[in-house]
Amino acid sequence: MHGDIEKILIDRGLIAERVQSIAERLAEDLRRELTAEGDAEADHRVLLIPIMTGSIVFVADLIRCLPMKLSMELIAVSSYPGQTMASKGAHLKSELPDGMAGKHVVLVDDILDSGRTLQLVRSLVLEKSPASVRTVVLLDKRARRAVPIEPDYAGFEIPDEFVVGYGLDYDGFYRNLPDISVLKPEAAGGDEKAGVLG
Ligand code: IMP
Ligand code: MG
Repeated sequence: MHGDIEKILIDRGLIAERVQSIAERLAEDLRRELTAEGDAEADHRVLLIPIMTGSIVFVADLIRCLPMKLSMELIAVSSYPGQTMASKGAHLKSELPDGMAGKHVVLVDDILDSGRTLQLVRSLVLEKSPASVRTVVLLDKRARRAVPIEPDYAGFEIPDEFVVGYGLDYDGFYRNLPDISVLKPEAAGGDEKAGVLG
């Protein structure tokens, strides 16, 4: 597996530092908003929604840096990036969780690429009358954005390269690599990207 890697783009030490600083900013912003509401029980109302499967490692590290009471519900989205596919776009593979009204929702994803995934989920969540919606992504590939969406919190802006590791996959593999890495062209099937991303 390690022989398939061309280079490490972001190593585990740097990721850990950035996850900690995202968590601190997020916790501070949530605390400020909850305090302003003057509701002693308000910290029961933070709901994290990680978008599976890519965010699995990121969210595991992120939640352990968040000091407040929170709950978590997973959702799954499929994204079809190819120019060749008629059904280009994102679609929900699971139900949205119940009971989002009045909650401070935090959407967590591994990477903001075209932006279709986060835009879809964000718009569906907004229909459920949450108290607020925030978006957190570890990676931001701005050059590839196809829809106008900016993350509220982003760990790293990266160039237009296909990356794996720390939860991100190529064709279902490499999620367990601890660093964010670029594959050798022969391991990544030439220039072609996988048809379905998650
Ligand atoms: P979107 O294009 O912003 O909708 O991103 C769709 C999904 O594609 C993300 O949630 C990731 O799971 C996946 N994805 C996008 N770029 C990469 C990449 O470079 N490596 C691995 N997965 C990716
Ligand atoms: Mg994903």
